[in-house]
Parts: sequence; structure tokens; C-alpha cells
Amino acid sequence: MFFITTAIDYPNGKPHIGHAYEKILADVLTRYRRLKGEEAYFLTGVDQHGQKMVKTAEAEGVNVATLTKRNTKVFLKLWEKLDVSYDGWAETTDARHQACVQAILTELEEKGSLYKKSYAGYYSVRQEQYLTDRDRNEDGEFGPEWGEVEEREEENWYFKLSAHATWLKSTIESDALKIIPEFRKTEVLNAIERASETDLCISRPKERMSWGIPLPFDPEFVTYVWFDALINYISFAGYRKSDGSDFPEFDTLWPADLQIIGKDILVPAHAIYWPCMLHAMGFEADEMPTLLVHGFWNVRGDKMSKSLGNIIDPAELADKFGVDTLRYYLCRDIHSGKDSDFDPERLVMLFNTELANDLGNLLNRSINMTKGFCNSTISSTDTDNEEDRALRESLAQSTEAYIKAMNHCEVSVALQAINDHVTHCNGYLERHKPWEMKKDETQLPRVGEILSHTAESCAHLALLLSPILPAAAEKIFSQLKKEKLNKMTLNELQWGLLEAGHQTGKPKPVFPRIQIEKKESD
Ligand code: MSP
Repeated sequence: MFFITTAIDYPNGKPHIGHAYEKILADVLTRYRRLKGEEAYFLTGVDQHGQKMVKTAEAEGVNVATLTKRNTKVFLKLWEKLDVSYDGWAETTDARHQACVQAILTELEEKGSLYKKSYAGYYSVRQEQYLTDRDRNEDGEFGPEWGEVEEREEENWYFKLSAHATWLKSTIESDALKIIPEFRKTEVLNAIERASETDLCISRPKERMSWGIPLPFDPEFVTYVWFDALINYISFAGYRKSDGSDFPEFDTLWPADLQIIGKDILVPAHAIYWPCMLHAMGFEADEMPTLLVHGFWNVRGDKMSKSLGNIIDPAELADKFGVDTLRYYLCRDIHSGKDSDFDPERLVMLFNTELANDLGNLLNRSINMTKGFCNSTISSTDTDNEEDRALRESLAQSTEAYIKAMNHCEVSVALQAINDHVTHCNGYLERHKPWEMKKDETQLPRVGEILSHTAESCAHLALLLSPILPAAAEKIFSQLKKEKLNKMTLNELQWGLLEAGHQTGKPKPVFPRIQIEKKESD
């Protein structure tokens, strides 16, 4: 079973296109696995504890539990709107997750992996962590990225992170814990030594912060939010589940094949804390999930933030331009692991050119002309001439390139492969001009063959596109009167999906052009 997890979100504030991208990417890769005929399980959710939640609740004058519920609903509604279809939903205030975290803490404490000590130092309220001199900038100050920094002295519980540093280094060096893309691996290796110099503080005194999971062996403390949240990846997969729980069977899921995270939470949380935590629990190097690290969506070069007021709301975009438009843009315009700049004009331009003009037109012309010139009837595509062979070869190459790219989680490269064949097909139609040829009745059989080649191509392209644009793929299959192709897997894919004599349906634009209202001054 292919198991994908994503970094769960803080349910404080509004979700933005960065969050939406991550879940859409995971959804696309899950759907792709199913398209390959594999079983797949996608777990995501919300990280509900921590000081940020408490502070937001205080600022809004609401109870933190009420705020948590309210904000969680926003995420749930968004994923539904964006066709993000997950199998497991993790909420860290869930009692079953709490029981799992406590069971793990008890085991680690019994094993001697945890200890209590007093510590005095500088504390970043925003990042919810103690800082060291290494976190100071060149001027010797703690930079604005740390937010408010205060001096604190308190007793806390620590996890012996440093005991796992040597193991972690060799596990990453040997790729037993694989990090994609490759350049992120170097970043992690450089960070290991530094991050494991100090152990990880895993508690917060209850008197200061009570919105968390109580330590089972010292109830005056709650669990540090990262320690709690990271465990969602196994608790909701059935780790240490209680009898009668409806969680999955852990052995069927773990190790997860992919953990999808953004670059900001690679170091130290996912590449250092998490593997060391797993190792301390008894998981071995070959049980570490691969980390797929994506880049950031920025806005005119700036990070999206409430303070800059540049948060781009995915729900608004989906309402305005359609879910498929947004899914297409987010998958198409970011390249593996790199950052990208959100540009609404590019979103419209890419949709209008690549979907409305190129693919949409190819489909529309194929079905429309098949209806007008061939009584909606597909002809045999078992032909033997150079142009037809080249088209079939182009499709085979695009399909191969698509599979290779999707296997490497490079969705934008896969879309390029699809678009290459669309371009080939449109060129083929332009060269043959079936709309001219049909004027000579003796040419009608050839017209049928030509249109059937492009209609057949559309069926293939819809199947390849289905993980990315599930709704559009369904519409294409429906116009081709081949609804059952929606259930087809990649290994069943072969030339001849539309058999000779098959009747296609009515053409209707699947990607109607987005008209941008012109300002009067334009
Ligand atoms: N709650 C933690 C994750 C805990 S996982 C055990 C968290 N939440 S978050 O809401 O800040 O981020 C959720 C995910 O969205 C992270 O993977 C993060 O990298 C990603 N993104 C946040 N901003 C982003 C962009 N601007 N662009 C793309 N992804 C971004 O971290």
C-alpha cells in the first residue's frame, strides 16, 4: 500500500495557496498511485495544540477549544472544495492520538530516553523554542524571524536527541532516509551536527501553557507541540491503537512511502527530530519514510504573511476561476523543490492557452467534427501511414515521459509531457485540415481516421490528466461516451480505447476561456 502523509497545518488563521498546493500535490500523487493500480492511503489533518492557538484565542476573546473547532472546519471545507480526497484525517486533540502520544512518552521515559532538568535561556515565543547563540544574526541579535524573544528559566523534560545523531547522519548519507530533491540532503547533513548539540525540550509547564497533551508521568507538564504533532503520522496510522479502534492496521501502512512537507519544516523538525524520535521508539533505518520537500509559493518575491496582508486565499480563487484551473496552475507552475511566485495573470494565461486553446480545442474539434462529418462514429485507427504512426509514437513518448515524471513526483514535468502530445495533435489536424477534406466525399473515410486518432488521443490524455484534474477528466470521458475509462488503470492503457463503430457524445467546452474584465481605462 502506498502511504502518503502531509505536514498537517496549524488551524490558526486562514489557509493560503501554500497549504492548498501541498494537499493538492499529495492528492495528485495518491490518485496517480491508484491510476497505476496500486492501493494508496493519504493521511492529512490539523495540528491543533500549541501556544499560537492559545494566543490567537486570547486575542479573539474565545475559548481555545472553540477556536480549534471553528478553524478546523475551514480546512475541512477547503479540502472538499478543492477535490482533495484523503483517507485519514488527523486532529491532534483527538483522544486516540492523545493516548498514543502518552503511550510513546511512557515507553521512552521507561527506556531512559527522557530526562528532566532546569534550563535558563532565551526563548522565541513565535517559534516556541529556546534559542542559542548560534541563532543570533551577524549583529549579535535574534532576528525578526524569531518574533518576541524573552529570557526564561524553567524545569522541563528533554528527549536525548544527541544520542541518535551518529545514526541519523549515516541513515541520511546512505539514503535509507531519502530526501527529495537531492540538494535538500546536503542542507540536512550540514544541520545535523548543530541541531543535535543540544537535546530536545519536549515539555511546557502547564502553568504557562496548558493547551497540550499532559505528560503521563509528570502531569504538571504538557507535551511540546512539535513532539505531539509529528506523532500524528503514526498515531492515525494505527500505531499502539487500542482494541476496537477503527484506525488502520499499522503494519499495512508503515513505513510511509512519502512524507510531503514544505522546506521550512525540514530542519530541524522532519529531518532531525522525527527520525530520531522514531529511532528511539525502535524503528530502524529502513523504516524511515522518504521526505518530499516542496518549495514555497511567494507573492511578488515575499513570503505570504498576515502582517504583509498578502495571503492568497485558495477558496476565493477556486470560486472565481474554478477548482481545475487552480489545481492546474498550482501543479504546473512550480518546479520540483523550488519556490514559485504566485501570479494571477499567469494563472489565467496558462489556463487559456494550455487548457482552453490547446487541449480544450483539440477535444472540441475532435468531437464536433466527428459528429458533423462522421455521424459521431469512430473509425478504425489501425492505419499504416507515416503521419498516423508519428502521432501514435508521440503519444507513446508522452505517456512514457509522464510516467517517469510522476514516479519522481515531478507533476509539472508530467504536465509538460501531456502538453507535448496536445501540440502534436493540433499540428496534425492543422496539416490535414479535415474540415477542408470533408468537402470531397471520397476523402470521408480518411477524415474519420484522422478525427479518430485525435479523439483516441484525448481519451488517453484525459486518463493521464485524471489525477491532476479529476473533474475535467470525467467530463472528457463523458463527451467521448466512455465513462468507464475513469476506472481504468495505466497498465490497461493501450491504443484502441475508442473502438471502430463507437459513438461519441455531444461536444461542450470542458475548459471555457476565462474572460478578464477590461478596466475602462484599458
Ligand atoms: N503544523 C506544522 C506542521 C506539523 S507536521 C507534524 C506547520 N503548519 S503550517 O500551517 O505552518 O504549514 C503546513 C504546511 O504548509 C507545511 O508543510 C509548510 O511548509 C507548508 N507551507 C506553508 N507556507 C507555504 C507556502 N507559502 N508555500 C508552500 N507551502 C507552504 O508547519
